[in-house]
Amino acid sequence: MKIYVCKTYEEMSKKAADVMGAQLILKPDSVLGLATGSSPLGLYSELADRCARGEITFKDVKTVNLDEYCGLSPDNDQSYSYFMHKNLFNKVDILPENVNLPDGTNADAAAETARYDALIASLGGVDMQLLGIGVDGHIGFNEPDDHFTTGTVRIALTESTIEANSRFFASSDEVPRYAYSMGCGTILNAGKILFIANGKNKAEIVEKAFFGPVTPQVPASLLQLIPDKVYAFVDAEAGELLVKNHPEDVIVL
Ligand code: F6R
Repeated sequence: MKIYVCKTYEEMSKKAADVMGAQLILKPDSVLGLATGSSPLGLYSELADRCARGEITFKDVKTVNLDEYCGLSPDNDQSYSYFMHKNLFNKVDILPENVNLPDGTNADAAAETARYDALIASLGGVDMQLLGIGVDGHIGFNEPDDHFTTGTVRIALTESTIEANSRFFASSDEVPRYAYSMGCGTILNAGKILFIANGKNKAEIVEKAFFGPVTPQVPASLLQLIPDKVYAFVDAEAGELLVKNHPEDVIVL
């Protein structure tokens, strides 16, 4: 696993954009797996700038997002579809028909999870998957559990995730209790993983994920099983314990 500790969030975002940009140059028709949340905002802004300058193009790119809240339609400003359009898709030259997310309005979980898995399979899988990490170690919405998920699932959000995500809502009561999420098996099958994490509150879980036991209690720990595919960029705050306790295993930029 290549773990790069950047000085700042801005540097982390630029390096992540270098890696994703290189992916698009090497394979212009890449299938990108994308994430929402605060971590990728700088990366998406960089990608949009680079696209506007003509350095990269999304015209042949297809995307599959990790997750979507159950019960929210794409025009709801708290939906992940809305987030992705606002922060990336509306700012780059991607074709609307090449954008894919789980359909949060489909109440038939069996049908929706099967549809999303079939869609990902029909695209030939994910070439590069972007991942953030929750403070409880979740990736996508795969929360700590006694088993790892394989394909797309409908997941009950943990209290810690509801609390963490309530910052985007008027109150924690408004945070949806369920989400559709790509499964850990699908994430592991991606050609490459681009992992990003920033901020002090991620330092402990990042160390656990990369150097603790591989366990479904820390879903991100699964990445230890595919070290050759993982490129992790963290800022100095999130990487603090890595630099302190595992200096040999990280590259400090
Ligand atoms: C979002 C997602 C989540 C986030 C994680 C970190 O699509 O998959 O796993 O990556 O909750 O969120 P932030 O970046 O807001 O700290």
